[in-house]
Amino acid sequence: MSRMAKADFDVAVIGAGAAGMMAAAVAGQRGLRVVLIDHAQRLAEKIRISGGGRCNFTNVGTGPSNFLSQNPNFCRSALAAYTPRDFIDLVEKHGIAWHEKHRGQLFCDDSSEAIIAMLKRECELGRVSWRMPCKVDEIVHEGGQFTLQTDQGVLQASQLVLATGGMAIPQLGATDFALGIARQFGLKVVEPRPALVPLTFDAQTWQAFSVLSGVALEVVVKAAAQVSGTGQAGKRAGKPHRQEFLEDLLFTHRGLSGPAILQISSYWNPGDAIQINLAPQQDLERELLAAKQGGRQQLATVLAGLWPKRLAEQWLAQADAVEAGLAVRRLADVPDRLLRQLAAQIHGWSLVPSGSAGYKKAEVMRGGVDTRGIDQKTMQAKAVPGLYFVGEALDVTGWLGGYNFQWAWASGVACGRAL
Ligand code: FDA
Repeated sequence: MSRMAKADFDVAVIGAGAAGMMAAAVAGQRGLRVVLIDHAQRLAEKIRISGGGRCNFTNVGTGPSNFLSQNPNFCRSALAAYTPRDFIDLVEKHGIAWHEKHRGQLFCDDSSEAIIAMLKRECELGRVSWRMPCKVDEIVHEGGQFTLQTDQGVLQASQLVLATGGMAIPQLGATDFALGIARQFGLKVVEPRPALVPLTFDAQTWQAFSVLSGVALEVVVKAAAQVSGTGQAGKRAGKPHRQEFLEDLLFTHRGLSGPAILQISSYWNPGDAIQINLAPQQDLERELLAAKQGGRQQLATVLAGLWPKRLAEQWLAQADAVEAGLAVRRLADVPDRLLRQLAAQIHGWSLVPSGSAGYKKAEVMRGGVDTRGIDQKTMQAKAVPGLYFVGEALDVTGWLGGYNFQWAWASGVACGRAL
């Protein structure tokens, strides 16, 4: 392919997703000459598919405690300087109707396309130049200039922003490009891993539960203390994570999914157990013992009245249930000891996932560019003036519920204002 003429810009932003468009728009509107580069055929696919097509674009309760990072205070400054209210103001300025769904999560009334169009319009207002689809083959930093060899020619810019996101959903063009560039410039990377992802179990463990595929219920889940002494992040950090979530859980053919599991997956490390209270709003011990008084029904029938029926039947049928044949015994004949044991099992189900469903099913990547090498106010690499990282590429991972977009907007704005 013939090389086109060299083009000069103040800023080159690689990655036209949530954070990249925000950074480009803010910098462009400050009068900087910005070029926005993306290798995808379609713009901002992750925004398009997010929130079931309605984009859960922020969470009104966003705070530093909703994020995981090896440097937990890093996100404070950017989140405080650009809040959910600021993004809502932008959304309203563009006439986009929205609603709150659940626990502070805000969604578009119509479609996530409105958010993409809004960001595109903001880029237009900043006279941002586009190169898309465009592949960046090489980046050289010399004499205060970044030279980008691309399949659309050579681009030069005095500042470079990496906004290529994380590795979740590679089928939509997600890459580890930002991590490679970070390493090229001598920055550290916190080991990346799929997060907000279903957890899977080996066939033998899951044999008894796969028939429950489709059953959903509210649970409390926590990443429990480690089992069998394998090395985990919690131990490395000196104390295990004790984060817990009250959310819905979904049984699947291969394991567990639903918001509860996606949330805890971000805190889970291979070898760790997770612990699930399958009846968090109930005191099953008390209820079973109370039902025993004069109870002529079988235990399975009583449990099915207190709990999802399919789950109650399968729980009593599985090999680990407190005692074989328990299901068909009359409740009145079951010793209190066994009822207490059964209730304890249900309130504290502990199991060790064999893995996760991987980047193909993950919503985000955990880990990323180590923020200890990044200035928290500007997103600039401390050791490489002019080089910036924003969004999910950084080691800042939000909970499920609009937090990851709020981080993308806030880090993009912090960078856009500092360029
Ligand atoms: P983003 O992924 O948005 O953008 C990165 C851009 O870089 C892409 O356009 C990509 O094409 C481009 N790129 C990648 N590699 C490149 C390369 N080598 N060269 C050039 N360009 C490259 N969050 C939330 O808060 N609310 C929600 O409702 C959802 N829902 C949701 C659903 C699903 C299915 C997924 C997978 C994810 C979500 N998320 C979410 C997470 C959210 O989408 C994500 O955290 C943000 O989009 C991250 O913004 P970034 O700008 O960092 O990356």
